[in-house]
Amino acid sequence: MNNTQIIILDYGSQYTQLLSRRVRELGVFSEVINFNIKAEEVKKYKNLKGIILSGGPSSVYLNDAYSIDKAIFDLNIPILGVCYGMQLIAETFGGKVELADTQEFGKAVLYLDKKENKLFKNVDDKKQVWMSHADHLTKMPDNFEKIAHSDSSIAAIANSDKSIYGVQFHCEVTHSEQGTQMLENFVFGICFAVKDWNMDKFIEQKIEEIKTTVQKDDVILGLSGGVDSSVAAALISKSIGKKLTCIFVDTGLLRKDEAKKVMETYTKQFDMNIKLVDASERFYKALEGVKDPEDKRKIIGKNFVDVFNEQAKIMKGAKFLAQGTIYPDVIESSSKDHSSKTIKSHHNVGGLPQDLKFTLLEPLRTLFKDEVREVGRKLGLSDLVVNRHPFPGPGLGVRIINEVTKEKADILREVDDIFINKLLEHNLYDKVSQAFATILPVKTVGVMGDNRTYDYVVALRSVNTIDFMTATATHLPWEFLDEVTNLIINKVKGVNRVVYDITSKPPGTIEWE
Ligand code: XMP
Repeated sequence: MNNTQIIILDYGSQYTQLLSRRVRELGVFSEVINFNIKAEEVKKYKNLKGIILSGGPSSVYLNDAYSIDKAIFDLNIPILGVCYGMQLIAETFGGKVELADTQEFGKAVLYLDKKENKLFKNVDDKKQVWMSHADHLTKMPDNFEKIAHSDSSIAAIANSDKSIYGVQFHCEVTHSEQGTQMLENFVFGICFAVKDWNMDKFIEQKIEEIKTTVQKDDVILGLSGGVDSSVAAALISKSIGKKLTCIFVDTGLLRKDEAKKVMETYTKQFDMNIKLVDASERFYKALEGVKDPEDKRKIIGKNFVDVFNEQAKIMKGAKFLAQGTIYPDVIESSSKDHSSKTIKSHHNVGGLPQDLKFTLLEPLRTLFKDEVREVGRKLGLSDLVVNRHPFPGPGLGVRIINEVTKEKADILREVDDIFINKLLEHNLYDKVSQAFATILPVKTVGVMGDNRTYDYVVALRSVNTIDFMTATATHLPWEFLDEVTNLIINKVKGVNRVVYDITSKPPGTIEWE
C-alpha cells in the first residue's frame, strides 16, 4: 500500500488487470481495487497520485449500475475513466449516456480535437484505437470539453482544471496504437507519479519484510515445481535460509525425473531444507478403479492435503505456511462470480491445509506472472524453471484418461518427455503457452516390422493463449509432428498411435479431464 501510486477501480472489464500491468510496466506500482471503495479509504493511500476507473459490462443509466463514491472526485487526485469509467464520469457531472444506434466494437480512428491537451502529448492524429461499447455519450458533462472523437462517438473528454479525463476506447490494449503513450501522459504528465517500481527494489523490500515477519520462527512451503511456488521458495530462502523447509510430494503423477530435478535445483542453488516425500504408492492405490475425472481430482486433492498435513505435523515448530499465491489469484478470488458453473474443480498445491494453525506467508501476492518470472530470474533460477509451462495440480492424473495406473503413468512420462524435449530442441517451447501429452484408454491395432501390435493411443496437445480462459491449438509444423510421432512410436513401448488435438477452448478445455 505504501508503494501504491495509482489505483484502478474495477468495474468488471476483462481488461482491468491489463490496465494495472500497463501502469506497472511504466515503473509505477498500481493496484486493482473494488469499485465500491469509499473516499475515506482512498485517503489512506499515502503515496496515491492517480485513480483509473476501468471499463465494465454494465450501463451507467441502469438502477443497479456499479457506481462510485462521489466524494472521491473531491480528493483532488487526477482521475482517468476508461470506457464505462468515462461514462460514469460523464453521468456524475451532468452528461448523458444512452444506447447507441451505431455500436462500436473493434478498431476505430481517433480524431484529436484538442491536440494540445496533456493527455495527447506525443500522440498523433487519426491513429487507431480499440473500441468496445454499446452505450455512448449523447450530452457532454458540465465543465468538460470534448478532446477527441471517432466516426460515431465522443471518444475523449477532459476537465483539465480538475484533472479529470475520460476515454471511450481501451487505451490499455495493444490494438490502440498509442494507448500506452496516453497512459504514460496520464501517469507522469498529469499525476506526476514517480518511476520507482522495479523487481530489484521489490526483492530488496520483500527480503527485509520476510525477515521482520518470520523472525526466529520456521516456515514450511509446499513446492510443486511450478513457477510460482519455486520463486516463492527462492525468495524466502534468500531471506531466512534454513528456517525454510520445502515439502515436495511425489504423487507418482509427476513428469519424468521431476522429483530428481527439483531436488537438484534447490539443494545446489539454495540454502534451504527440502524434503522429498514419496507418496506415489498411496496415490496409485487411492485411484484404483476410479474413472470419473471429478472423483479423481477430489481423491488426488484430498490425498495431497493428507500427506502435506502429516508432514507439517512432523514439523511441529513451524509457524508459517508459505504459498506462491500471485496477484491474478488475489483479484480473481475477490471478484469471483459465485453463480458461475464449475467446469473443473481446480486443485492447487497452495491454499490447502485448512485445519492447520499456520500464519500464511504469501510474498508474491502483489505480483503479476511476468513480474514473478523476472524475480525468479534475478534470484538465479534457470530459464527452464522460470519459463515453464503450467502443470496442473493433479498432474498426470488428469492426463491419463479413465483409470490411473503406474503402467500408464510410466508410458505417459516417456511420451511427454520426448514431446517437450523436441519442442525445446526446435526452439518451439517458449513460443507455445502449454504443451503436453495425454494417454487414452483405448488400444488400437498397428503393424511394426511384420508383427501386429495392439497398443495405446496418445494425444499430443499444444495451445497458445494469453489467459488460459480461451486458447487455440498451435499450428505446429507437420515435419515436427512427424518427427515426434516417429520417435514416440519407436521408443515408447506400449504406444503404437499418436494423434494431435486441434480443438480450441472453448469448446474444448486445455486438459482432457
Ligand atoms: P483447462 O483444462 O481448465 O485448464 O482449460 C486451464 C489451465 O489450468 C490448468 N489446470 C489446473 N491447474 N490445478 C491447477 O493448478 C488444476 O486442478 C488444474 N486443472 C487444469 C491447465 O493445465 C491449464 O493450464
